[in-house]
Amino acid sequence: MTKAAEVIVIGGGIIGLSIALELRWRGLQVLVLTQDYQTAAANAAAGMLAPQAEEIPSGALLDLCTLSRSLYTDWTNKLTMATGLDTGYWECGILAPRYERPTDAQITWQSRAELVGHLPTDNLGTEVVGGYWFDTDGQVDNRALYKSIQVAAESAGVRVQTGVQVTAEDLQDLSQGVAGLVADRYILATGAWSQDLLPVPVVPRKGQLIALQVPHGEDLPLNTVLFGTEIYIVPRRDGRIVIGATSEDVGFATGNTAEGVQGLFDRAIRLCPALAKYPVVEEWWGFRPATPDELPILGYSADPRLILATGHYRNGILLAPATAQIIADLLFDQMHPLLLSCDYRRFMKQ
Ligand code: GLY
Repeated sequence: MTKAAEVIVIGGGIIGLSIALELRWRGLQVLVLTQDYQTAAANAAAGMLAPQAEEIPSGALLDLCTLSRSLYTDWTNKLTMATGLDTGYWECGILAPRYERPTDAQITWQSRAELVGHLPTDNLGTEVVGGYWFDTDGQVDNRALYKSIQVAAESAGVRVQTGVQVTAEDLQDLSQGVAGLVADRYILATGAWSQDLLPVPVVPRKGQLIALQVPHGEDLPLNTVLFGTEIYIVPRRDGRIVIGATSEDVGFATGNTAEGVQGLFDRAIRLCPALAKYPVVEEWWGFRPATPDELPILGYSADPRLILATGHYRNGILLAPATAQIIADLLFDQMHPLLLSCDYRRFMKQ
């Protein structure tokens, strides 16, 4: 049988494409199979790089997120060098205002006056009493980043076939390849749709988002991300303000709902009343690939020709560079210690 590539990546979302690009940069022939780019969770995210603000407890997920955040500057620089495209990476810090001071507030707690010092003007809601400042968290423009990865992959020689239907039967017997295409190794990076192909515990968790636009020529009301309770507000340098996100267990139910959107507007305006006057320019939704323990599934499947890279849940954008590096290392027989915690077999234990 003719080999289509050395590696076939199933899934053209940010995880699949980042891995494909990294492997190509390391000299392998790579083919990506994808339904289309539109449904990818990368389009739906807000692009926060927020291991601290997300309050991820210490452990493997925090270690993975922190590692990935440390790779972001070099990775986005490399993408920009390769494509000439700006990814919108911005080490803007994240402010986490609170309406009550928690009884166990850490010494990092800041008063309302201290919080306001991180903003261009005092435009926090009057109910904010204080909160936290995470200066090493930040953001990237997820759509610009995803576009830059697509362009970099194409110019590096990653081949992409769209509209290819890989089936669960294909993955049961890889000797015939997938969708009739044969490679030495296969990587499954199909995010929220992974259960269509393998019995892994990855389920869709819907997020609805909205965007406002600060009129051209006006100053941004925020120069940092605000991360409140069940709400985040992400100002882009181009004046767009992304507000997210709901977290809904509704399968693949598409569309924005009145309740979802109303909740986002209410919480955002309570946190930052200045937002109320800006025009709404977009409402949309996406599906996070959730696992039971919120850690991604990374590493060998039962068949060592098939490697898994799925289930990145709330952190797909953040985890893209570390995932690409760790999975590419694995193909070159280097086992990152974090792979032990991310192995799919953890869900088979009693
Ligand atoms: N990372 C934020 C979210 O998934 O809503």
